[in-house]
Amino acid sequence: MNSNKIKKVLITGGSGFIGRHLVKDLLNKKNYKVFNVDKNGYASEINSQLNKIKDERYEFFQCDLIDKVRIKEIVFEIIPDLIINLAAETHVDRSIDKPEFFVINNVIGTLNLLEAVRNLYYKMSNEWQEKFIFYHAGTDEVYGSALENEYFNENSKYNPRSPYSTSKASSNFLVQSWFHTYKIPTLIGNCSNNFGPAQFPEKLIPLSIYKALNNQRIPLYGNGEAIRDWIYVKDHINAILKIIESGKTGESYCIGANNLRTNNQIVKNICEILDKKLNPRISYRNLISYVDDRPGHDKRYALEITKVKKDLEWEPIYPFKESLKLTVDWYIDNQLWCESKLIRANYNCERLGLNK
Ligand SMILES: NC(=O)c1ccc[n+]([C@@H]2O[C@H](COP(=O)([O-])OP(=O)(O)OC[C@H]3O[C@@H](n4cnc5c(N)ncnc54)[C@H](O)[C@@H]3O)[C@@H](O)[C@H]2O)c1
Repeated sequence: MNSNKIKKVLITGGSGFIGRHLVKDLLNKKNYKVFNVDKNGYASEINSQLNKIKDERYEFFQCDLIDKVRIKEIVFEIIPDLIINLAAETHVDRSIDKPEFFVINNVIGTLNLLEAVRNLYYKMSNEWQEKFIFYHAGTDEVYGSALENEYFNENSKYNPRSPYSTSKASSNFLVQSWFHTYKIPTLIGNCSNNFGPAQFPEKLIPLSIYKALNNQRIPLYGNGEAIRDWIYVKDHINAILKIIESGKTGESYCIGANNLRTNNQIVKNICEILDKKLNPRISYRNLISYVDDRPGHDKRYALEITKVKKDLEWEPIYPFKESLKLTVDWYIDNQLWCESKLIRANYNCERLGLNK
């Protein structure tokens, strides 16, 4: 494709954490027109920068992918060159409380989008079909919990163990089927835990920072020894763009940062950064409190990222310590942002997902 030609990108879930970083990144690149389709859920950004983007290369459609008639209309109206499907309910604890909602939202939502694409695909020219890509954002959680020293890769068996990861695995399978059965050019990237500025304060990193800044107990599940591979959100975005640019359609790619850390280490790192910056009378570490473990808590996520490194020459570039500091600094400077998000979501950071 002529690199000067404007590429029309339909992003679903573009008002969420990763989506907002992606929209910003694409608009900085100049040769993209971005169409953001989002239902504006509790974790979405609805009233700040995103809706104020006056760029004529940005357009927002409020639509729930569950509305199959509307999503088909939107896809036909835009005729995108590229779709990046980020839309999903994403918090494991909420999936424990509302499994049916997660299955409907994440599985049927993806099905409706794929069906809209299938309808469009066969009405389009060969030239358009050859350049079209459907990218689906997956998660390392589809592989389930890794044993000590075990690393999952693209050939590992799916073994999801929470309603969230099961809904994500199911949506991956749908995408894979639309490639094999209907020849829709798809790509899947299964990524590890993201962190960065402006993530709704319910998951480990933003919640711990929020709790600390408000002098509340910082909850660690179980013994705090669960291990995740933490990737800075900008590295994830670079990987998505690299896979779209050079990935082989029909394939999936594992995206991680080779940055395995226990929850204990993460929260202690956050406290150290806060102690250094805010110089409290008593260390923030004293707020750490061990609480009941998450039911079915996956102990360890670990990915081998050889394929994306070797085949696509992508690798993570953002150093963990600096990126975590930048993230903590962002939350210190944007406490009102957190407050307004929590009020709108009607959430006061209480414990979720205890299955009681
Ligand atoms: N955050 C991570 O650590 C991580 C890691 C790996 C993969 N992922 C995947 O990346 C994607 C984005 O994650 P995130 O962290 O930005 O999530 P998020 O919860 O911050 O945002 C998700 C966005 O999707 C929208 N959405 C949800 N269901 C929708 C529907 N039915 N129709 C329209 N919009 C809908 C929400 O309104 C929200 O704006 C998800 O698919 C997630 O599974 C996230």
